[in-house]
Amino acid sequence: MRTNLIFHLLIFMLSLSTKAFSIDTTEDIGKKLFQEKCSECHQQDGNSEDPEIPNIAGTSAILTFDILDQFKSGDKKSKSIKIEDSATTVDKTETNMNEIAKSLKTNEIEAISFFLAKQKSKSASQTFDQELAIKGKDIHMDLCENCHVDEGTNNIEDASILRGQWKNYLQSQFKVLSEGERYMPRRMKKRFRKLSDEDKKALIEFYISPISAN
Ligand code: HEC
Ligand code: HEC
Repeated sequence: MRTNLIFHLLIFMLSLSTKAFSIDTTEDIGKKLFQEKCSECHQQDGNSEDPEIPNIAGTSAILTFDILDQFKSGDKKSKSIKIEDSATTVDKTETNMNEIAKSLKTNEIEAISFFLAKQKSKSASQTFDQELAIKGKDIHMDLCENCHVDEGTNNIEDASILRGQWKNYLQSQFKVLSEGERYMPRRMKKRFRKLSDEDKKALIEFYISPISAN
């Protein structure tokens, strides 16, 4: 009987604690918002299945917050990519991240950023040019590694995760960065300027490859 009582007491305590946990945390709020407003394009966890739509899972909360804030203020222009041509199942033919970010309150951007930082970034599986990727690895280790840490896989310096990103998306960002249409930190600009077109191609092949520098 006594064991029975202890058992019921345990169940009761467990139900209390799950009740306590059911109070929405910032992460839960972020998850809900993300599912409502973002997942049709960026998938449930931020690992996109469309080459034109970036993987944003695992990005540091500070960087996501900063980028969404730039979209909201208009400092960062959305490319309004038509996604009807790519292998997407999304029925929207056009997207505009500026409009999407403007619809969010600051505390909602915070919650989404927190949720995304907790998601695991998965590499998009893509074919790559081995020879160029090896060349790209050397350029990365020389010029980009100190912010895009651990061969571009780590967000610890609040810089974007580059490894495993979609090639189409990377190409579009290399283009807007080269044309000065996207903000980049001063120290990145100094190094980015040194890159030839061939270097940029090699870097992209490295970022989409699973090649390790070790
Ligand atoms: C209709 C499709 C669509 C929806 C919905 C959408 N996005 Fe995007 N998102 C894109 C595309 C396409 C890009 C890349 C082009 C661009 O910069 O505008 C992008 C870019 C981004 C980036 C920039 C990544 C980087 O490294 O610069 C972030 C962050 C982002 N989206 C977050 C969100 C969040 C958060 C939501 C929901 C509130 C959302 N997106 C809803 C399609 C979408
Ligand atoms: C001083 C640190 C720093 C250095 C060095 C640096 N980056 Fe960056 N990089 C960043 C930050 C921070 C961002 C995010 C910028 C923003 O707020 O939009 C970024 C963004 C990017 C993006 C956009 C990624 C995306 O998902 O949209 C690319 C591509 C990129 N960097 C490539 C490079 C390359 C190539 C090099 C070396 C030649 C390099 N970076 C060197 C800090 C750095």
